[in-house]
Amino acid sequence: MKYSKKVIEHFRKPHNQGEIKNPDSVAVVGNPVCGDIMRLYIKVGKNKKGEEIIKDIKFETLGCGAAIATSSMITDLAKGKTLEEAYKITTKNVNEELEWLPPVKQHCSNLAAEGLHEALKKYFEKKKEKPKKKKVCKSAKSKKMTKKKS
Ligand code: FES
Repeated sequence: MKYSKKVIEHFRKPHNQGEIKNPDSVAVVGNPVCGDIMRLYIKVGKNKKGEEIIKDIKFETLGCGAAIATSSMITDLAKGKTLEEAYKITTKNVNEELEWLPPVKQHCSNLAAEGLHEALKKYFEKKKEKPKKKKVCKSAKSKKMTKKKS
């Protein structure tokens, strides 16, 4: 089986491998075809425009060389992107950047994209569960009260 230079580089020296302490979201996904597992951590921050971005991202993958290379590549692709941009990253993007996996290893790249999407979905769900409380301005309250009286 022949791997591209990029796949070999990312497998030998994976980028962003490890754990994030106190992450904003963690996803654990598995590949039913082979039983390999990936854990993906994200830390969310804001860019200069105030948009939420992936400030930090790390992975721990127990799997084949292709799974490690794709995990490494997805962290490179997602880091610094807005959450919406990161959500649009696909298995095809990962494959293109790695100059394509051999056809029999294509399924390995699903794990990386699935992990990223799952971590983002969990983050969005968590945010929905904890909506920010609206602050009621005292002067607005008193204006309402004044209106009712008149
Ligand atoms: S063989 Fe399991 S992800 Fe590659």
